[in-house]
Amino acid sequence: MNILAIESSCDETGAAVLTQHGDQITILSNIISTSLELHAKTGGIIPEVAAREQVKFIIPVIQEALGKAFSYTLSSTPPPIDAIAVTYGPGLIGSLLVGVETAKTLSLLWNIPIIPVNHMYGHIYANFIHGKGIELPAIALVVSGGHTDLIFLKSHTEIEHIGQTRDDAAGEAFDKIGRLLGLPYPAGPTISKLAINGDHTSFNLPRPMIGSHDFDFSFSGLKTSVLNVLKTQKLDFANEDFAINNQQVLSDLCASVQYAIVNVLTRKTLKAVEKYRPKTLLVGGGVAANTALKESLTSAIKNDWPEIVIHIPDRSLCTDNAAMIAAHAFFLTPQKDINTITAAPGLSYI
Ligand code: KG4
Ligand code: ZN
Repeated sequence: MNILAIESSCDETGAAVLTQHGDQITILSNIISTSLELHAKTGGIIPEVAAREQVKFIIPVIQEALGKAFSYTLSSTPPPIDAIAVTYGPGLIGSLLVGVETAKTLSLLWNIPIIPVNHMYGHIYANFIHGKGIELPAIALVVSGGHTDLIFLKSHTEIEHIGQTRDDAAGEAFDKIGRLLGLPYPAGPTISKLAINGDHTSFNLPRPMIGSHDFDFSFSGLKTSVLNVLKTQKLDFANEDFAINNQQVLSDLCASVQYAIVNVLTRKTLKAVEKYRPKTLLVGGGVAANTALKESLTSAIKNDWPEIVIHIPDRSLCTDNAAMIAAHAFFLTPQKDINTITAAPGLSYI
């Protein structure tokens, strides 16, 4: 079975072709175009700018994905695919509409059914690409720019949303703190690079909700603490000269921030593992590309729960991409009636 997938929920425009043989899911092509450079200039995503770029790129990206997979050129003759998967939520309404309406048009043109996919499940199912024999039940930690969630997957259809952030998501915390430090958007990768040379014990930052009895998170207090540190210690990293002359302090602060976030994510995930006793731990979302988080979760599972298998996708499959949307689509039923499919910006898990 071959699936063409389209992803346009935030600032990326992605198209991918994946094939499934038995329980092996393989990527034939995975193309991504991003307007991040435009957003780095403004320090964040401007929805209107993102959607306009996506309108420009969606057809070339789909053409490239199908061309690479099958040497196919866009025309009214259908490519050798069985379904078109598309992200229908959650995300920015203008961005989602670009992908959903394009998928519907291609579905009508080629008479090929659509599979609407929830972006957040895409992050979880990215682990099923090349991942043979992943066993359920699983606990999934989804850490992205907009979400920090703990999910219990009893089976592919029985799902419980057991924890979430009450304010900022983990990726959002990296990005907002990065902004305070004068770092470009998105700041997660830069903070993680600077942290390599830093001492994570240098700044005593809080671990919000680490000991709470539920599986929820809170990261906005961490941002406030960093702001207080900057003010009281007169650290003005937004000033370029100051930042250049105080690189070690900046690295130390980045290491301390990263350690605090990783610490809370690891502790809460282990708490969920202890209660639900899954066979597998699945990690996904942009923050799953963070090396410190990977190392922390991997060593905690190895030490405390050696019988549990942990999966974290390759870096390029952690951040938004269309391959992960196809990966989940293989577990869903295609829909013939395209009129029932609409963009759903506020879509939740269940
Ligand atoms: O999943 P994603 O690509 O988009 C959303 O669905 O939100 O996640 C983007 C988020 C951003 O907040 C970015 O700063 C963060 O993932 N991120 C990282 C790293 N790479 C991306 N955070 C920490 N360390 C990284 N290496
Ligand atoms: Zn995402």
